[in-house]
Amino acid sequence: MDNRPIGVFDSGVGGLTAVRQLIQLLPNEDIIYFGDTGRVPYGGRSKEILVRYARQDVAFLTQFDLKAIVVACGTISSTALELLTQENDIPILGVVEPAAAAAVRTTRNGRIGVVGTSATIRSGAYEAAIHRLRPDIALESRACPLFVPLVENGRVARGDRVVEQVTSEYLAPLRDAGVDSLVLGCTHYPLLETVIGDYMGSGVTLIDTGRECAAALARLLEMENALCARRDAPGERRYYVSDSAEDFASLAAIFLGDDVAGKVEHVAIEAY
Ligand code: DGL
Repeated sequence: MDNRPIGVFDSGVGGLTAVRQLIQLLPNEDIIYFGDTGRVPYGGRSKEILVRYARQDVAFLTQFDLKAIVVACGTISSTALELLTQENDIPILGVVEPAAAAAVRTTRNGRIGVVGTSATIRSGAYEAAIHRLRPDIALESRACPLFVPLVENGRVARGDRVVEQVTSEYLAPLRDAGVDSLVLGCTHYPLLETVIGDYMGSGVTLIDTGRECAAALARLLEMENALCARRDAPGERRYYVSDSAEDFASLAAIFLGDDVAGKVEHVAIEAY
């Protein structure tokens, strides 16, 4: 048994899709979340900058005595996960491998779509992970750089004409390719699940990277006998951001359905 908190980070609110799943799967666990809202989006940045940001994010989190870190960011998972695991002594899980495995399990026709940030798609990480499991899978990948700013501004609802227009432009090639599983390779994208699901149709299964990563962590903690021993009270959750705590709190409340007021603090991440 291990009562230490789990650390989770992302560039912004996207990683809350993993937190939402962690709360559901492991309600007693304490969680410390860092959202780098002052530097979001990550997805258009170079590898050098992403590595610097990733190291700072992990340096901030490892100040707390954590039992594991979830890189709830497709962009960092695709570009810096190996380095982070080499440099740190604590289990660090990314979203790519669990989501790739879920897509391979799900597909019936062997055609999988992958959407993510420009850095993620450029890295080819999801494609490599999927082909390691099943080399015969036909893949159709697409970078969707406008999705993250839309989500960070709370523009996620069905009926929002801008979101629907952007979605149809990005996803038309994937729908035309007949994919039956679509990896939402950026943790912000499950917040657009309704609009993306409407466009792709009910025959396409959407793979939520945050959910798959949360499930992988739950399995790991169970296997290592490292689950929290407390069974009687919900875990404590604390949130840190590098921009306005108020803006984050109002978005987080909507996305998490959890009252985060009074639990969000500002952090000067450049100091790490
Ligand atoms: N949510 C992150 C990801 O999964 C980062 C998106 C961004 O900041 O561009 O890739």
